[in-house]
Amino acid sequence: MKHGCSISHKSKSYYQVLVLGSLILILLFKWFIYKGDFREVARTFFLSRFNFEDEEVNLPPKECDLFTGNWVLDNKTHPLYKESECEFLSEQVTCLRNGRQDSVYQNWRWQPKDCSLPKFRAKLLLEKIRGKRLMFAGDSLNRNQWESMVCLLQSAVSPGKKSLTKSGSLVIFNIEEYNSTVEFYWAPFLVESNSDNPWRHSIKDRIIKPESIKNGGDDWKGVDFLIFNTYIWWMNTGNMKVLRGSFDADPVEFDEIERPIAYRRVVKTWANWVEANVDPKKTSVYFMSMAPIHYRSSDWNNPDGIKCAKETLPLMNMSTPPNVGTDYRLFSVVANVTQSMKVPVYYLNISTLSEYRKDAHTSVYTTRQGKLITPEQQADPETFADCIHWCLPGLPDTWNELLYTHIISHS
Ligand SMILES: *[C@@H]1O[C@H](CO)[C@@H](O)[C@H](O)[C@H]1NC(C)=O
Ligand SMILES: *[C@@H]1O[C@H](CO)[C@@H](O)[C@H](O)[C@H]1NC(C)=O
Ligand SMILES: *[C@@H]1O[C@H](CO)[C@@H](O)[C@H](O)[C@H]1NC(C)=O
Ligand SMILES: *[C@@H]1O[C@H](CO)[C@@H](O)[C@H](O)[C@H]1NC(C)=O
Ligand SMILES: *[C@@H]1O[C@H](CO)[C@@H](O)[C@H](O)[C@H]1NC(C)=O
Repeated sequence: MKHGCSISHKSKSYYQVLVLGSLILILLFKWFIYKGDFREVARTFFLSRFNFEDEEVNLPPKECDLFTGNWVLDNKTHPLYKESECEFLSEQVTCLRNGRQDSVYQNWRWQPKDCSLPKFRAKLLLEKIRGKRLMFAGDSLNRNQWESMVCLLQSAVSPGKKSLTKSGSLVIFNIEEYNSTVEFYWAPFLVESNSDNPWRHSIKDRIIKPESIKNGGDDWKGVDFLIFNTYIWWMNTGNMKVLRGSFDADPVEFDEIERPIAYRRVVKTWANWVEANVDPKKTSVYFMSMAPIHYRSSDWNNPDGIKCAKETLPLMNMSTPPNVGTDYRLFSVVANVTQSMKVPVYYLNISTLSEYRKDAHTSVYTTRQGKLITPEQQADPETFADCIHWCLPGLPDTWNELLYTHIISHS
């Protein structure tokens, strides 16, 4: 009897523990759903499909080559923002406001051959960079891409919760609402050079110090997403001037070294910095391949062309890559060096897909030495067209769609 009673007493308390335990589990689960990152949970369940604010996000399969594909005209989805709606755009890139008449250059969407890019959702990317820093470091093409990223994100941030600040080599877009920053760091060669002053740098006589990174790269340390590039400043001359001794010497002495060889020394220096200073658990590292230029209309057989100035359509024959003089030797250098690094570096192969976009440059709808091009200068594209930088909205938005795809797939 006593024994039986004790059993029933015992099972009663087991039952209570069970009920209490289940309640705690349910509460914990609810807390987890609301407080924790539900999207992450959903993502592990559905692997390549997950929901964000009731909309499905389709990630391309990991093995899909995002960089081989076609440009398709799609004025339903592109541009991703309006020029007039992004107060942060600089005068250098607002081509429509600067007088450009055609706008189809804004309507092209990059379509990879074997998959599709996910729709760009500013809020999703903002969640990924909440409390974090994202920094573009490199030359003016990386600044072009930084401006695009600011515009892609800013529409999803409440008014008054975003601002631009400049400090030294840095321009910082502060997203107070998310405690995030999207930054641009001027370092046209990545390594130290006599052109590191973002406002006053010599256009000619560029000399680099290939084994040295300015301030030991202190300004890049601890950043969560680092996006590097360096290309356009290498293209003025076949050889690069490499410092011998010190910049303080008078006269400054240098050697002239073949471009790919000097480039390799620079990329090695950069790679060593990354290996020594980046914790891959905290920081994702990206490298943008060369952005092409379009200065010879003979490259695309337009006898009436003047540089890129008269181009309103991309190169549509995508059966063979165009030859617009991009130095692919430099592509191989970065590919080689990054392949053998311990810290993973995602190399974005934007070169070929951008080569098709002879229509997308700022041309004469831009600034020159900080001032808007005058009507007289506009009438002389042979002298004044800029076929290096790109209008916004425009091609750099696609570079950011590719970057976005990697960030939301991997973090
Ligand atoms: C880069 O992408 C282009 C297509 O846009 C492709 O033809 C080329 O092979 C790629 N290069 C490398 C090294 O993957
Ligand atoms: C979008 O493109 C279609 C044809 O491709 C054209 O008929 C339409 O007018 C365009 N819409 C806008 C807003 O440009
Ligand atoms: C804001 O982000 C920084 C890192 O960029 C972090 O150190 C800081 O603690 C964050 N502040 C808040 C209030 O979350
Ligand atoms: C595309 O370019 C290739 C190589 O230049 C050429 O053989 C082909 O005829 C071109 N196709 C068209 C439709 O123009
Ligand atoms: C890159 O590596 C490959 C294979 O290791 C080699 O054949 C090629 O010459 C290298 N290229 C450069 C630019 O170092």
